[in-house]
Amino acid sequence: MNIKSLFISNKIKHLALVVLAFFSFTYNLHAQEGDVATGEALFNGNCASCHFPHEDMTGPALKGARQRWIDNSTEENFYAWIKNSQSVIDSGDPYAVEVSKFDVSPMTPQNVDEAAVDHIFAYIEAFEPPVVVEKADGSAQAGPEESSSLYWWLLSGLLIIVIAVVAGVKGNLAALARDKDGDEQPEQLTVGESARSWAWKNRGWFGVTVFAATIVLLSLGMTKWLDLGVYEDYKPEQPIAYSHELHAGDLGIDCKYCHNSVTKSRHATIPSVNVCMNCHKTVKEGTNADGTAEIAKIYEAAGFDADTKTYTGETKPIKWVKVHNLPDHVYFNHSQHVVTGGVDCKQCHGNMKKETVARVMSSEDLNNVGVTDNDWAENSVKFTKPTLTMGWCIECHRQSSVDLAGAPDGSYYNEIHKRLLKDKKTYKKYLEDDVVTVGELGGLECAKCHY
Ligand code: HEC
Ligand code: HEC
Ligand code: HEC
Ligand code: HEC
Ligand code: HEC
Ligand code: HEC
Repeated sequence: MNIKSLFISNKIKHLALVVLAFFSFTYNLHAQEGDVATGEALFNGNCASCHFPHEDMTGPALKGARQRWIDNSTEENFYAWIKNSQSVIDSGDPYAVEVSKFDVSPMTPQNVDEAAVDHIFAYIEAFEPPVVVEKADGSAQAGPEESSSLYWWLLSGLLIIVIAVVAGVKGNLAALARDKDGDEQPEQLTVGESARSWAWKNRGWFGVTVFAATIVLLSLGMTKWLDLGVYEDYKPEQPIAYSHELHAGDLGIDCKYCHNSVTKSRHATIPSVNVCMNCHKTVKEGTNADGTAEIAKIYEAAGFDADTKTYTGETKPIKWVKVHNLPDHVYFNHSQHVVTGGVDCKQCHGNMKKETVARVMSSEDLNNVGVTDNDWAENSVKFTKPTLTMGWCIECHRQSSVDLAGAPDGSYYNEIHKRLLKDKKTYKKYLEDDVVTVGELGGLECAKCHY
């Protein structure tokens, strides 16, 4: 599990950030003002592909960077660096020259203004890495979520103690009252016997309570089970260091050029090596340090000899690891969503133009990824459930509207539209809020998604 995924899918984080923002604000009064939440979104959208706040990645850890520039250069150069690092290096600033030695490839110019930089650094300075707890199965898990369930256990324990104490006091008072009236004390019962006789005397209430508690516990367990974020941030090691950021982002290759069945069928295909060879027959080298090594793997798979420019016929499939995996009992269809529903890849896969190999985005990524990417229309659906869980599908079906008028003649939704128009009463109910959602048309029915 990579470190980045740990702090992206951390629900406690927001609260922690607010608290931290407050503290950093009170003690760090000379720092530029900036908004932590805005900064987080800007950071994730522009900088997170190369920087961590607290440790080195492609670029250096950014915590304290502003102060380093103020101490060694000027604050103007700090802003100028982020806009265009090369221009500061070219100006001969010694600190800039020093920093530029960090990595062979320079930092790409960032289209962010000074206010945005202030937001970003408000977030960076407030950032605290999550505590990582090793679970019994060896997987790591961010701390706060564990401790929140511990908190509930403690709370329940406390409640039981309080009830026991209250019951004890009540018993003592009753005994005292009987003493005073001179009544005979009942025979001493063991705890088990008295509990049983109490349950029998109150059997009506006792039965109802046990029944209700069972239902509540079962449904809590069920929702927890269904909502487990088992897929989020899953990013397996891939056989070739292929980058979406480079191909779909910088080179601007359309998603459908490689995933070409996505509009025609249920599945989106992973491109065959021939698709790569369309370009890589001539593109032998990338800008990465080991740029030829990775492309050599493509040649090996295609059975291509780069020196003689001939195919040897000895092909070897590239074993891409599947990232998104729904269980077999779920039916999901890409063309229905992409073509008929007009849903953009981004709404479910986030901003792949900023990713290297694919990963399952967290619901937070899906909600926030677009804030600074011009190419992104604000996700109209707000997700709270973990990606790829049933709750996630349902959440979107509840919020997405269907363009009934836009459905082509004879199509599935056009038929439904005609039927609804005949039954004006039902239609009116759906249209009360001016939209017909996927859910209202049957997108919440079990059989639509389950075999
Ligand atoms: C494509 C990768 C990349 C992206 C994206 C990127 N950086 Fe950098 N950054 C680097 C590298 C690499 C360095 C180290 C300088 C070098 O090797 O040329 C660096 C250095 C820096 C430094 C100087 C650090 C120091 O210790 O003085 C700052 C400040 C900085 N980046 C801020 C940002 C901010 C803010 C963003 C987002 C708006 C950003 N960077 C986006 C790669 C990147
Ligand atoms: C409504 C949400 C949604 C949209 C929109 C969407 N996808 Fe997917 N995508 C999924 C889900 C869910 C899976 C997992 C499917 C499975 O395991 O059966 C998936 C899987 C994939 C896969 C793996 C291969 C496969 O079919 O299982 C690729 C590649 C892919 N999507 C690409 C795309 C591209 C490209 C677009 C845009 C043209 C797109 N997706 C639009 C939800 C979506
Ligand atoms: C439309 C053309 C095109 C297609 C199709 C294409 N690539 Fe590339 N790829 C490029 C170009 C151009 C570069 C060099 C970019 C650069 O200068 O770093 C590149 C670079 C790379 C690199 C090296 C990156 C680096 O910087 O070291 C790898 C690895 C790679 N591609 C893998 C693939 C794979 C795998 C496929 C097929 C799934 C593929 N490419 C399909 C154009 C393409
Ligand atoms: C980003 C929003 C979004 C997400 C996420 C999403 N869907 Fe959908 N879904 C839609 C839209 C919009 C339609 C309507 C498509 C149309 O007009 O045909 C739809 C339609 C459907 C239908 C047809 C419903 C009917 O009434 O015939 C099925 C089945 C379906 N989706 C399955 C799934 C499954 C399974 C998942 C989760 C793995 C999922 N969807 C996730 C937006 C979404
Ligand atoms: C040059 C070819 C190419 C282009 C263009 C491309 N992809 Fe991919 N995509 C791949 C390859 C190769 C993989 C398998 C490696 C991986 O998982 O990253 C992949 C994997 C994926 C997956 C994960 C599939 C799985 O296993 O579940 C998704 C989702 C995806 N791409 C979405 C997109 C989207 C969205 C775009 C457009 C913004 C896009 N891709 C553009 C080649 C491409
Ligand atoms: C919009 C699509 C959709 C609808 C409608 C839907 N489900 Fe699901 N369901 C899913 C998906 C996707 C999963 C897989 C979730 C996972 O793997 O975490 C799932 C998983 C489940 C599971 C858990 C099995 C497992 O593998 O964890 C049960 C039980 C279930 N669904 C029952 C129902 C029932 C009952 C209904 C009708 C009230 C229903 N579903 C309606 C998409 C749907």
